[in-house]
Amino acid sequence: MAIDFGQMPGEAAEPLVTPALTREDEAEYSLRPRYLNEYIGQDKAKGNLEVFIEAARLRSEPLDHVLLYGPPGLGKTTLAGIIANEMGVNLRVTSGPAIDKPGDLAALLTNLSENDILFVDEIHRMNRAVEEILYPAMEDYAIDIIIGKGPSANSIRLDLPKFTLIGATTRAGSLSAPLRDRFGVNLRLELYTPEQLACIVKRSAGILGVPIEETGAMEIARRSRGTPRIANRMLRRVRDFAQVRAGGVITREVADSALTALEVDHMGLDNIDRRMLKAIIDFYNGGPVGLDTLAATINEDTVTLEDMYEPYLLQQGFLTRTPRGRCVTPYAYEHLHMTYPGQQQTLF
Ligand code: ADE
Repeated sequence: MAIDFGQMPGEAAEPLVTPALTREDEAEYSLRPRYLNEYIGQDKAKGNLEVFIEAARLRSEPLDHVLLYGPPGLGKTTLAGIIANEMGVNLRVTSGPAIDKPGDLAALLTNLSENDILFVDEIHRMNRAVEEILYPAMEDYAIDIIIGKGPSANSIRLDLPKFTLIGATTRAGSLSAPLRDRFGVNLRLELYTPEQLACIVKRSAGILGVPIEETGAMEIARRSRGTPRIANRMLRRVRDFAQVRAGGVITREVADSALTALEVDHMGLDNIDRRMLKAIIDFYNGGPVGLDTLAATINEDTVTLEDMYEPYLLQQGFLTRTPRGRCVTPYAYEHLHMTYPGQQQTLF
């Protein structure tokens, strides 16, 4: 039986299922695992990291530069923090778009201590002039600085402490080849399974002190589109509903009713996902349609659709990507309760 919560007063304007970091996710920091043995899922990446970290520690060397890539919200920043903790070194955090000028990056690099980790989020958005500072920094632990202008300009080489660069990106394909080639370790993060997300939800509920039933955790997990950031965000919202309207315990019914009231369906799709799929059906006969055209049709940003919405729709089989554009699948028609036109019959 589902409980009808209706609309909650003061409901947040942020969409519940966006994997992008929102202001509300600041609370996420307390939920982040600090060591590898607390980190659930990503077994392949975790297994490789364990070996590389141990080897680097045995040799008392910094870890090789690491590139983490995959959809947003899967724990790239969390993993960088874990690597720093496991190595017992400092973590400096910045992001590609935050570094304006080559001098800003030079200042960051010269202030590092031996073996420190520099984490650059959204590294694909770093500008070219800044990126070029990184090449000798990563390869030789040095930067080249030009002093003076014109014919009297001089280049001097400044040695840096040995450090590890951890770059994170949602789009490994957007990285230039010279930058990509300088990372010794490439780790691809995958969307989580519902079972892994249920473990994360139970762990987070334990930290927040919220009673939760196994089936309640699974309900949140199934609707959080493979993404721990969304699962933790949903957990906090469902906790509000549980406390205000249902005696405090998160049961399956409470989770179901709360998430339905927040317009997240049982597969974790929100309004934007549904509009995306419906637009392909209504205006483009199910596709193919180019992503830019689709984004303009539903008045959303192309990058948002590609990075935040599409990976889950592809993974769940609602959408396919063809050289001529995106197509919806028969499963999408079924999910939206629409009739699949099927094969055209040839009469002659
Ligand atoms: N919180 C967010 N991501 C997590 C993960 N992978 N393991 C445990 N807790 C998490």
